[in-house]
Amino acid sequence: MRFDTTLVLSALAATVSCHPSGSAEFSKPSSKDRRSPCPMLNSLANHNWIPRNGRNISIDQLVTAMDLALNLSPDSSRPVAELAVTTSTTGNPNTLNLDDLNKHGVIEHDGSLSRGDIAFGDNHSFKPSIYNTVAAFFTKDVISIPTAAKARSARLKAARAANPAFNFTAREDQFSQFETALYLAVYGNGTEGNAKTKWVNILFREERIPYNEGFRRPTDVITNDDVVELAQKVAALST
Ligand code: HEM
Repeated sequence: MRFDTTLVLSALAATVSCHPSGSAEFSKPSSKDRRSPCPMLNSLANHNWIPRNGRNISIDQLVTAMDLALNLSPDSSRPVAELAVTTSTTGNPNTLNLDDLNKHGVIEHDGSLSRGDIAFGDNHSFKPSIYNTVAAFFTKDVISIPTAAKARSARLKAARAANPAFNFTAREDQFSQFETALYLAVYGNGTEGNAKTKWVNILFREERIPYNEGFRRPTDVITNDDVVELAQKVAALST
């Protein structure tokens, strides 16, 4: 017997969005759990959408978690997940540990919004002193695309000035644009931006999905085209 995957997924998603605290209850990682430089992967692990221990996570687990938790379409998440597993140290080329993503130069890059540069040692832990400089731009209830672009540009300028070894290729610039596009897409309104400031702060500062603050899985799928469109808007406003 074959299951219709779409039906099964949407049935699951419906259940989950009604009971966001069910199997996806938040808890902070233990000292044995692995975490990554990505605030969203860490949030998903902290809610057990992907294994809480952050170990041996497959491409399919990443893609399914982003679909079920965020309604991010597989055409957007799968290519990134496939690139991500090239950092794998698990011994299985189809799985990774979250801290494998600390590897510099695959996805991880200088000039992050909330992490230090590799030249200073720790390129993966959340650094309040860095994120505070970014969040200082988020003065309204929602983060517009121009505000997100301004915050990213200012952070890149400061990172470049502070780090003589600063390195930022055109490809890394694109990744960085996509990362800003992703928080706008998941916590905002379609391709218009306007991400809820409170939810974005919770993403970075607590690595938690803001169910308690009203977040529910978006009803409309976030397509790769949506994310690309947002990234292009961010790029166009970058200085
Ligand atoms: C398979 C999917 C994903 C993978 C493998 C991945 C991986 C990564 C990695 C390695 C970084 C570090 C880049 C850096 O050096 O700053 C990163 C950053 C980031 N990711 Fe993800 N990510 C994924 C999906 C998502 C999603 C769905 C979101 C939605 C909000 C997201 C939001 C972010 C943000 C906002 C940053 C920037 C963090 C910062 O600049 O401090 N990611 N991601």
